[in-house]
Amino acid sequence: MFKKLLGVAAASAASVLVLAGCAGGSTATPTDTSTPTDSETAVAGGLIGVSMPTQSSTRWISDGESIKAEMEAQGFEVDLQFAEDDIPTQVAQLEAMLTKGAKALIIAAIDGTQLTDVLQAAADAGVPVIAYDRLIRDSENVDYYATFDNFKVGVQQATSLLVGMGVYASEESTSADGPNAAGPWNIELVAGSLDDNNAFFFFDGAMSVLQPLIDSGVLVVKSGQTAIEQVATLRWDGAVAQDRMEDILVSSYADGSKVHGVLSPYDGLSRGIIAALVDAGYTADDLPTITGQDAEVLSVKSMLAGEQYSTIFKDTRELAKVASAMAIAILNGTEPEVNDTTTYDNGVKVVPSFLLTPYIVTVDNYQELLIDSGYIAEADLGAWTLFGAYCPRTQMETPMWATCWPPIAATPWFRLPAAWWPLSAFRIWWWSKPPMLC
Ligand code: BGC
Repeated sequence: MFKKLLGVAAASAASVLVLAGCAGGSTATPTDTSTPTDSETAVAGGLIGVSMPTQSSTRWISDGESIKAEMEAQGFEVDLQFAEDDIPTQVAQLEAMLTKGAKALIIAAIDGTQLTDVLQAAADAGVPVIAYDRLIRDSENVDYYATFDNFKVGVQQATSLLVGMGVYASEESTSADGPNAAGPWNIELVAGSLDDNNAFFFFDGAMSVLQPLIDSGVLVVKSGQTAIEQVATLRWDGAVAQDRMEDILVSSYADGSKVHGVLSPYDGLSRGIIAALVDAGYTADDLPTITGQDAEVLSVKSMLAGEQYSTIFKDTRELAKVASAMAIAILNGTEPEVNDTTTYDNGVKVVPSFLLTPYIVTVDNYQELLIDSGYIAEADLGAWTLFGAYCPRTQMETPMWATCWPPIAATPWFRLPAAWWPLSAFRIWWWSKPPMLC
């Protein structure tokens, strides 16, 4: 009984910690790009439609909530919708926003080529459109684009891959000057979804760094899969990346050779790739260097556990401010601030853009970039020591005594998102049981 009470008390304390962690934090940011966020709000009020692709990745939830908070603070109402990676759902949600009288649309597209008709309807109604992070293609009815320097993201991913493998001496290197410069090292390449314009920018940026080393034999892609069409991952789905990595391990590494590096463009894919490697017998000691993007909490934990090597931090709070300021400027009849008018040709026009700066994150600088900036609450990274651990096999948070034991970890009860654990009566009961299967 005492243990049960202790369990309840400790779990409640953790809830408070986690909730406090989620709400807290300064909004200081390491970005050195001055952001056009100081627009005076002459027009206030009215509905703004915000369309995000999915809630399956935490970044889009934060993006949506940040835009909503930003616009509401400026006196607007916000209709925030997530389309769960289903294109007809996103189109229907946008149509509904127009029907409700939205004055502007901020859209992160699932498939950047599938919104032409609904954007024509927006233009016919005089509703301006901001493409959010992902370029909307094949339409003249995209007014502005708020994003990061996406080519640079790819360069950074490849650079950190090479630093992690010891081929580069540092993130400033531009040729093989590290302790492992000679090679040959086995790498595999992974790209994002081909219906997302960003996937090409990330991959092209990365290949601008990796191709010369592939050509010179320092890097070897044993699968032979080097074209973006071969290495793409539909809808950025971690399970798809996991399946592909499993196939590659069987087809190209059955001779006992090891993968030394994986270029992964997104944390959710990195976790799938790690799951495939762990299932094939890799441990934290011999996992390859694996990159990522978005600084998701689960992947930062994976980095701290010595699995994933790096991620890319893109401060979505800043992006939300930029997109909101663009919408407000248009509604005020003024010109939104942009810093790029040449890069993003959507097939019909070059969309004026504002690009923010991305940053490489490793265990060496995560504290400064992610915690000190308030992007991630330290409690969210630390909660596992008491209440659970990240399990690469299931890619989920599991209670610490059940971690990775397949029959338990596969049970739906245990696959609740991490944020639910402190509040889960079942978890409290589980926590109060004696240690079992660690
Ligand atoms: C975004 C990335 C994200 C990916 C998957 C891309 O369009 O730029 O930050 O990792 O989509 O959601």
